[in-house]
Amino acid sequence: MKITASAPGKVILFGEHAVVYGKPAIAVAVNRYVHIKMGERSDNRIHVQTPQLGVSGYLELEDETIKCENNHKTGILSYILRSLIIIQNETGLKFEKGLEIVLELEIPIGAGLGSSAAVTVATLAAAFKYFKQEFNRDKIARLAHQVELEVQGEASPIDTTLSTFGGAIYLSPETGEIIKLNLDWDIPLVIGHTRRESNTGELIKTVRSKKEKYPSLINPIFESMEQITLEAREALTRKDENELGELMNFNHGLLDALGVNTPVLSKMVYLARESGAKGSKITGAGGGGSIIAYCPGKKDEVLKQLKKEEKAFPIKISGDGCQVDEI
Ligand code: MEV
Repeated sequence: MKITASAPGKVILFGEHAVVYGKPAIAVAVNRYVHIKMGERSDNRIHVQTPQLGVSGYLELEDETIKCENNHKTGILSYILRSLIIIQNETGLKFEKGLEIVLELEIPIGAGLGSSAAVTVATLAAAFKYFKQEFNRDKIARLAHQVELEVQGEASPIDTTLSTFGGAIYLSPETGEIIKLNLDWDIPLVIGHTRRESNTGELIKTVRSKKEKYPSLINPIFESMEQITLEAREALTRKDENELGELMNFNHGLLDALGVNTPVLSKMVYLARESGAKGSKITGAGGGGSIIAYCPGKKDEVLKQLKKEEKAFPIKISGDGCQVDEI
């Protein structure tokens, strides 16, 4: 039996970090995916390979450990391990035979583009199929969020929701709203990727300790971020290009104030604006990772300039969400 599953990455347009504290965020799934192939082995071990990253190792579900073969950080393998454990607990079924899992990534890892959520969602979808369970996106999204919480310590449900369902969403953890946004226009977005990995869990912790130390300063930042997201939702429906750009720029300034900016991110953000982007900001956790630039009519120019400094690529919203198949 061979199973394939895929799940898209995401970009947060507005509200990262604030969303961890219940504030709303707007994010879109993007046309860059994680693909998983899952097949049985003749022994009873679970082996994962990620050819592009050069990371491979054996997962021990019993004692919940990872034996990396090449002295790498366990990183992405931890999400696969937790997903397989959670699936066993959820279904009451056990992996009786060994598995060979091959991971292919169209998304750089640690780039703020939701690679860990996409890996988790794709693993869960493949494992449900392996156990011949029905394909239930709500269940996958719920368990994937649980996996992120277990591995990272803290996480909002935004990445896992988008990787599961695709499309564009407005999500407000405080009010429990997850609203699908019907964006019927091609939003011209470019990613600038700094090639420096960031650790979402660590960045969330840094922001939390700032919030605890300076609540009277940090809480209003989150309130402003909330207002930005609310206004951005309106601006998106009105297709108000200028306002969307301005709101992104405000949001970036506030992320900088939270301390998740870096000199390279900053350079790319301003370079994008100088090259004609209406707005640009960090996307995701920051501390490395990526920026997003909103560039109506200027996509090629922004891409060209960003590529001179770091990596850059255009993205489109993906309506697909996770997919699974048996071959
Ligand atoms: C990570 O993509 C975005 C953060 O808001 C964390 C989260 O929402 O889980 C920083």
